[in-house]
Amino acid sequence: MYVSMKDMLLHAHKNNYAVMAINCVNMEQAKAIIQSAEEESSPVIINISPRQMKAHGHGDILAPMIKGMAEKVSVPVAFNLDHGASFEDITDAMRYGFSSVMIDSSSCEFEENVRRTQQVASLAHGMGLSCEAELGHVGLASQSDDNKVDLYTNVEQAKEFVKRTNCDCLAVAIGTAHGAYPKGMIPKLDFDRLKELKEALDMPLVLHGGGGAGEENIKKAVSCGINKINVCTDLMRHATKTTIEVLKQNSAIDYMDLCIAVQNAMKDFIKSYMRMIGSSGRYSFTKSSTVEFD
Ligand code: 13P
Repeated sequence: MYVSMKDMLLHAHKNNYAVMAINCVNMEQAKAIIQSAEEESSPVIINISPRQMKAHGHGDILAPMIKGMAEKVSVPVAFNLDHGASFEDITDAMRYGFSSVMIDSSSCEFEENVRRTQQVASLAHGMGLSCEAELGHVGLASQSDDNKVDLYTNVEQAKEFVKRTNCDCLAVAIGTAHGAYPKGMIPKLDFDRLKELKEALDMPLVLHGGGGAGEENIKKAVSCGINKINVCTDLMRHATKTTIEVLKQNSAIDYMDLCIAVQNAMKDFIKSYMRMIGSSGRYSFTKSSTVEFD
């Protein structure tokens, strides 16, 4: 099923689990993600950023392919623009057939973030798409942004932001950052702030920079109210590592067999992550073949 993120994240919010949102730049990744979701009876979100679309995974090519694959499975699959920065990013994604968009104006001052998010949310809702926004700023691990408390989401501001923008889910800054953390370092997350945000907002919350945050942090973040976890770096690294290992074992391997080996390794990673964050087994067909959540 090809759907927006709205209902799947509301279900996750009401039932205290999280859905993976995985960055995807090609067919092998899309297949690995959608097959994993189907085999785990789990909802899933496929993410791609404007930068990734420019570099490799063009949105106009990926959107119809992902929609076609999603329509062949019973579990809900959303295709979401990750970190849309400009109005053009948003309208391009809408034209390509994305089911969801994120407007990231988290680097703007509060009023400007509200203004841009309001516009995108009303446009997205008018088209049946969901809208993710960000308040506070999840920066870069390479710049130690995870430690910068002044970038964290303010609870009072968040209440006003959500009320005024009508966004469907909110990415919050609580101590994670995008990209790889320095070797051996596990970020320290502000779980008290997360709990306060959940209580104040009572809506689906999103964790960006899930890569390298560690199993304990991720599980605790879910139990404190995170319902969507963005995962990019860890899966990309896993794919690269597998490619190197497979080539080391057999440098004459057929290219297609290499692609399949990497796809299968990505599936192993995704499926165990889905189990960790509680999205596995949330979806099933009833005998009357009505599709419903467990
Ligand atoms: P990581 O690359 O740290 O997994 O972050 C992914 C992300 O948040 C994409 O929006």
